[in-house]
Amino acid sequence: LFIIGTGLIGKTLLSQIDSQRDYLLEHSGIDIRIAGVANSRYMMFNREGLEISSILNELPNGDTSSVEFFISRMTELNLPNSIFIDNTANAIIPIFYEKILQKNISIVTPNKVAASSSYDRYRSLNLLAKQKNIQFLYETNVGAGLPILSTIKALNDSGDRIQKIEAVLSGSLSFIFNNYDGSTDFSLLVNQAKEKGYTEPDPREDLNGKDVMRKIVILTREAGYPVELDDVVLSSFLPESCFNVDSVEEFFIELSTQDGAMLSLLNVARENNAKLRFIAAMESGKCQVSLHQVSEESPFYGLTSSDNMVVIYTDRYCDNPLVIRGPGAGAQVTAAGVFSDVIYITKTL
Ligand SMILES: NC(=O)c1ccc[n+]([C@@H]2O[C@H](COP(=O)([O-])OP(=O)(O)OC[C@H]3O[C@@H](n4cnc5c(N)ncnc54)[C@H](OP(=O)(O)O)[C@@H]3O)[C@@H](O)[C@H]2O)c1
Repeated sequence: LFIIGTGLIGKTLLSQIDSQRDYLLEHSGIDIRIAGVANSRYMMFNREGLEISSILNELPNGDTSSVEFFISRMTELNLPNSIFIDNTANAIIPIFYEKILQKNISIVTPNKVAASSSYDRYRSLNLLAKQKNIQFLYETNVGAGLPILSTIKALNDSGDRIQKIEAVLSGSLSFIFNNYDGSTDFSLLVNQAKEKGYTEPDPREDLNGKDVMRKIVILTREAGYPVELDDVVLSSFLPESCFNVDSVEEFFIELSTQDGAMLSLLNVARENNAKLRFIAAMESGKCQVSLHQVSEESPFYGLTSSDNMVVIYTDRYCDNPLVIRGPGAGAQVTAAGVFSDVIYITKTL
């Protein structure tokens, strides 16, 4: 493995590999070695495998980090069965994915940049991996460790057709709307979600719906429809004025001016015996992201905590949809999803 990114996901992955390494060797004959690690500051290599438990302590003694150098070194080493893992949210690293795949190195990543870029790029990366008989896996781009993309792929591969997807794809917006009962102002609840670490440090990144747009684009593409980010119709539940501010503090001040409007939305939903949920939907390749009132019959009605939920209607699952639900964020489950993609690759070797 060649791993870039030792943040929340990267370090959790290292610890999961460290504790599972002996088991995999004994029970599956898989000998996982980490031959290179980098973050934005340092990098280090060992073609025989680094001592996993001391990587984080040793990394500051490594060389100054350079993505270009890291990838050149990885390809020069030319080790059999290499896998590159991009555990960053960086936009530059995915530029190297073609080069990596060209060198017959599989890629695993929770980084959404590549899979949500232009459709042509998404398709050419997947095609390249296929031509090279290697893997480009990004299960954790949507719903963290939940088996969503692999399920859609399995449905497609078995000849089913995805007609419609409805989904709650943001852990933070799920938490906010699952807990919004009017007893606390909406802006205060968003602040609480931020304090609990459910939102990005800048909650505008969650509340503007852009992250959910990227996720529904990836789901739609995996379902076989060629969609671009610009094709997604987003109905924001907040006015632009909330996002056109210079700081998080100003955002909260602006957001508090919407407390009354949000309460009205909640009250209307209540009059209809419904609940508010921020839902991404795809039907026959057309995507929409908006706040919905959902009634008791909806699978989203009973959603709790910060869970994600994906409801898939296909030719075979038509009356009664296939539902995947569970935590859609968090270091343990996301790192486990990355790990699981790695294990999948070892089984294809
Ligand atoms: N957290 C979750 O629950 C979750 C769920 C699903 C998907 N994801 C995705 O997982 C990815 C990682 O998330 P995270 O929470 O682990 O982020 P994070 O804690 O911010 O860590 C990011 C890591 O990337 C490194 N990095 C950034 N730019 C780099 C560069 N140019 N060269 C080398 N290293 C670079 C950083 O280096 P430094 O350590 O030097 O800063 C850091 O180690 C993201 O794409 C995120 O969207 C996260």
